[in-house]
Amino acid sequence: MTAIAEAPQGAESATEITREAFRDGMACLAGAVNIVTTDGPGGRAGLTASAVCAVTDEPPTLLVCVNRGSSAGPAFLENEALCVNTVGPDHRETAMLFGGKTPMAERFSGADWGTGPSGAPVLAGAVVSFDCRVRERSPQGTHEVLFCEILRIQSRPGAAGLAYFGRTFHDLEG
Ligand SMILES: Cc1cc2nc3c(=O)[nH]c(=O)nc-3n(C[C@H](O)[C@H](O)[C@H](O)COP(=O)(O)O)c2cc1C
Repeated sequence: MTAIAEAPQGAESATEITREAFRDGMACLAGAVNIVTTDGPGGRAGLTASAVCAVTDEPPTLLVCVNRGSSAGPAFLENEALCVNTVGPDHRETAMLFGGKTPMAERFSGADWGTGPSGAPVLAGAVVSFDCRVRERSPQGTHEVLFCEILRIQSRPGAAGLAYFGRTFHDLEG
């Protein structure tokens, strides 16, 4: 299968759709940096995720795509409590901890946490935190798409943001 990508000057380039091509393409898509956490019968866990998206505002719902094979995956499959903590430059190191092959307890040790109404860990000082209850799950390839109803939003309007683009972090002015 091939895809046609148009260069600015009109030159065409065809790319075979491999796993690498997909990843290279996604590296061109800027995304917010989110530390997604959970707690419950499956234990406390979290990972850094860019695959977070608004679904609908009635009822207020977002989705998160979680790799089932990651160390945090089983907890996200079992627990209903979930919090999307969108972070700024202050939490760049924390985002790297949650995005690497770091033991779970160590990930949580580098920041201050509260607890949301769902029971999920809420990151103190996040740009915005969406505390949620997982309402539906959909397995898609290696990932589980979690549809999450938002129970509470805590935000810091005007705070600086952080984006992931070109496989690296970029500060965003508040
Ligand atoms: C910027 C960034 C975005 C990521 N986005 C996702 C994501 O949307 N979903 C996901 O499952 N993992 C995502 N990851 C990978 C996880 O954060 C984590 O690195 C991976 O699950 C590590 O596996 P482990 O927990 O088994 O060590 C992302 C990592 C980074 C650094």
